[in-house]
Amino acid sequence: MIICRTKAEMRETVRNWKAERATVGLVPTMGYLHEGHLGLVRMARGTVDRTVASIFVNPTQFGVNEDLDTYPRDEARDLELLEREGVGAVFLPGVEEMYRPGEPAYVEVPELSGILQGALRPGHFRGVSTVVTKLFNIVTPDLAVFGEKDYQQLTLIRQMVRDLDMPLEILGHPTVREPDGLAMSSRNVRLKPDHRQEAVALNEALDKAEAMAKTRPSISDLEMAVRSRLENSRSATTESIDIRDADTLEEVSGPFDRPVVILLAVRYGTVLLIDQRVVAPEL
Ligand code: PAF
Repeated sequence: MIICRTKAEMRETVRNWKAERATVGLVPTMGYLHEGHLGLVRMARGTVDRTVASIFVNPTQFGVNEDLDTYPRDEARDLELLEREGVGAVFLPGVEEMYRPGEPAYVEVPELSGILQGALRPGHFRGVSTVVTKLFNIVTPDLAVFGEKDYQQLTLIRQMVRDLDMPLEILGHPTVREPDGLAMSSRNVRLKPDHRQEAVALNEALDKAEAMAKTRPSISDLEMAVRSRLENSRSATTESIDIRDADTLEEVSGPFDRPVVILLAVRYGTVLLIDQRVVAPEL
């Protein structure tokens, strides 16, 4: 496995692979890898000849009061896991390698970056679309894989690639869950033990909504069912429950006849958990 700490090393590695006519896939991550990330890596490996995983805790997508300094990191373990998965190269740049000082140029997807999580975290999605564009330009992959767990991020990246004619394919990987249903996330390790137990509430609320959606309830009844399950979890603070069109993330109301996505953001202590599920009525 080749380790590239500079853009030049990364570019040269991919140039050599492309000279052999190999196809290249990219799995962008912020490290502290878990089974969820490894699922993305396996999807890429099953589709292309060579896979690059990037590990970069991107400062531009963290707000001033967010957890950049405490974001968990374990480079040695990440590299071991990626090597075991048969990744061809890891891109591990430092912040100075990725960003010039000052206010560099950025990429923004205006409508999608200002709604939902974007409204709660100003600047977050601009940071994501900018760093992802930079990674695409450095690695020049044929495809890139992102988790469906970060549904708004995936929708925004798909739109960015389409609108800016970026020459690669985007694959979404279904959310990988712990045996009790909690969506895997690097943040889970920071949950207190009792909060960790209670956090199954997110998945259970989504299961309940998925079953209920089949009977064509109104959007407000669906939301009420989700909220009541989350309220049973005593330590949870529900930051948001949003039910949107699954393709466009536009608002929907009343009874629905197209798939909708339920997006949850729930706080346990200082840890914000997100989860999502696309649900559809039985027609
Ligand atoms: O999903 C993430 O881990 C990050 O937002 C990403 C896509 C690696 C960009 O920093």
